[in-house]
Amino acid sequence: MKTTTRSLRALKGVRPVVCLTAYDAPTARIAAEGGADLLLVGDSVGNTVLGLPDTVGVTMDMMIHHTAAVARTKPDALIVGDLPFALAHDSFSKLLGYARRFLQEGGAQAVKIEGGATVAPAIAKLVDAGIPIMGHVGLLPQRFHATGYRRRGLTPQDQVKLLADAVAIAEAGAFALVVECVDETFMPAITAAVRIPTIGIGSGRGCDGQILVLHDLLGLTPEPPSFVRPEANLHRDAVAAVRRWAKKVRNPSRR
Ligand code: KIV
Repeated sequence: MKTTTRSLRALKGVRPVVCLTAYDAPTARIAAEGGADLLLVGDSVGNTVLGLPDTVGVTMDMMIHHTAAVARTKPDALIVGDLPFALAHDSFSKLLGYARRFLQEGGAQAVKIEGGATVAPAIAKLVDAGIPIMGHVGLLPQRFHATGYRRRGLTPQDQVKLLADAVAIAEAGAFALVVECVDETFMPAITAAVRIPTIGIGSGRGCDGQILVLHDLLGLTPEPPSFVRPEANLHRDAVAAVRRWAKKVRNPSRR
């Protein structure tokens, strides 16, 4: 049965939510057949698949291209498109246009927006317009030029800010909240403070669910983040398969 934003939200307190990134048809099929509840077409497509150094160079056109490829596989999992760098701070009519593109052209069912309390008013207006929104607080990769990739929630001041951000996004009407690289001792306080599922990445176990970049999980990323425990080494296996075939091509008599 197709996961909806409502059924996903209702999982809070019932069972952990399983989320993975997907960027094209093969990865969407792998993640969905593997049992993911939610497929995030993350802007991590930039550094994971497109050879970019980070997510800053990712555009709406790239996101729509990849989201549509995922949607064509018609997964039961909920498809969420990731709003690229800084677009949440455009005028509301432009923002509504981006969100509309995700749902109409990309075939997503929801949009993810990075940012804390400052983006909450825009999220409230999008939700009012019928666009389901997933929030994203904690470490914000799109802002790494401003803040670096630093772990969050290590000081009392930062904990107060994080909690305020999470509550603002939940009160704006988001149906779920990604919480990235927050200290695991503080994570349960965020989960307890909001009535929507918290989906952690590098934030320990005190979340309502987990998300990972599929390529990190499968061993396709050269240097995955330290919190990832890959479940496979597909890069190694694929290189070995290509080498076997290349050998057969070069020595046809031995086939
Ligand atoms: O873009 C992405 O893949 C993400 C996840 C890391 C949550 O935002």
